[in-house]
Amino acid sequence: MYLIFDSVEQVSRFTAQRIFNKIVEKPTSVLGLATGGTMEPVYQELIALLKANNSNLSQLITFNLDEYVGLPPSHEQSYNYYMHHHLFDHIAIDDAQVHLPNGVAADLNTESKNYSQAILEAGGLDLQLLGVGGNGHIGFNEPNTAFNAPTHVVELSVQTRIDNARFFTQLDEVPTHAITMGMHDILQAKEILFVATGAHKAEIVQAIYANEPTERIPASAIKNHPNAIIVLDSAAASLLPETAQQHARVNAQML
Ligand code: F6R
Repeated sequence: MYLIFDSVEQVSRFTAQRIFNKIVEKPTSVLGLATGGTMEPVYQELIALLKANNSNLSQLITFNLDEYVGLPPSHEQSYNYYMHHHLFDHIAIDDAQVHLPNGVAADLNTESKNYSQAILEAGGLDLQLLGVGGNGHIGFNEPNTAFNAPTHVVELSVQTRIDNARFFTQLDEVPTHAITMGMHDILQAKEILFVATGAHKAEIVQAIYANEPTERIPASAIKNHPNAIIVLDSAAASLLPETAQQHARVNAQML
């Protein structure tokens, strides 16, 4: 299902409300979380909702999608640091409840195997939050990753490193590798919330819309998922056919 909102604010409010509702409905939820610019306003809204409702998060479990290889949690561009800075430090959640792949593990393959296993042992993901890269990656599953891949180490594509260089002082500081939750782990989630905002996401959103699921475009896999919502702002949706845009447009007043 596609939902198109007028603004990033509305997208973020809707997305945060869905995550909040899931936590209320099932306090033992296992959430799959994402990082990146798209999620910053989502987490701001989520923090506000959790605070306003004095939510008890003591049974919540989270698993993040990915982490750069070679960056320790103390590194400001590590995803561990991002998650603490943008979410965990602002809500009542313990480190024992949150999981990110360890990008500085001595044995990255064992770390990857254990990560997929830990998700299974937690009961699987109830809700997976996803952003999308300009090349269609979800997590760091780059184009042509098998849809049945478990958590694994990936070499980042040049485009992904260029896209993410804005968070670093220069391109050669962007790590060359990452550990990512696999396509299989992601697609096993009971519910998927896929979020894309901004005109720079319009082409990939159009490609997802226009193509049958293909490993060439990892994000297209969610079209086969029985319970996925694609949440867009009007800029990210701007290259979709006019009729599709009309059909998916949400009157935010009605939410
Ligand atoms: C982040 C992640 C990535 C991002 C994607 C979009 O944990 O898994 O797939 O969601 O690169 O990033 P932004 O939101 O910065 O455009």
